[in-house]
Amino acid sequence: MRQPFVAGNWKMNGSKQSISALLAGIKGAMASISKTQVVVCPPAIYIPEVEALCADSAVKYGAQDVSFEQAGAFTGEISVSMLKDFHCEYAIVGHSERRSIHGESDELVAKKFATARAAGITPILCVGESLQERESGTTEEVVARQLNAVIDLHGVDALQDSVIAYEPVWAIGTGKTASPEQAQEVHAFIRKMIAEKSAETAEKVQILYGGSVKADNAEQLFSMSDIDGGLIGGASLQVEDFMAICRAGDVSVK
Ligand code: 13P
Repeated sequence: MRQPFVAGNWKMNGSKQSISALLAGIKGAMASISKTQVVVCPPAIYIPEVEALCADSAVKYGAQDVSFEQAGAFTGEISVSMLKDFHCEYAIVGHSERRSIHGESDELVAKKFATARAAGITPILCVGESLQERESGTTEEVVARQLNAVIDLHGVDALQDSVIAYEPVWAIGTGKTASPEQAQEVHAFIRKMIAEKSAETAEKVQILYGGSVKADNAEQLFSMSDIDGGLIGGASLQVEDFMAICRAGDVSVK
């Protein structure tokens, strides 16, 4: 059985004040969530704040990115040990905004994945195709390449202690959600790809969908057999929307 999982990726949004209000709202509504693991990923500078605010709740938190290096002359970067200092349990790696805006390669993402895992931080590995790639029929090829960068370097079992997020780039922040069938097709492809190497890992790994998940489409998406929850951008900044999405997780246990 895979636990439903909903993570909010706050991206570069928020302030001390708004984050505190947002978390108070999330925590206040946690009593209505019984099965879903709820995670928030604030901008790194607010992680200490979030650690304190989450101390007495079931809400967990993660970073939006992490360096693959341990320490040293890497201006602007944040290391796994720094995240561990603040008891961060998750780190998103390979988000499409990091791949496209910051030029992160599959190889770099695979290194970040391994560094996080080695430190006991669960990586949330993002994969997904652009609109052009989808239209040219290369979705599976692109997703396989992104996933194989990790599998080839670290072995398929490395995925057991990780979360995968399928985020079609054309659906991120556009309001253009993949249909449940479109998303399921790629999720099933990912699980099958993993199953060819390890049936056990394929059965265990949580595969989230991300890209314009909203309160009114979450339940349909999460009801698909290979969708185990979501990675939520915009809607994770609104308490009611985010918690409605978390509740949709509860009814989707696989
Ligand atoms: P939106 O939910 O705003 O489309 O963002 C999705 C995303 O990129 C989550 O990581």
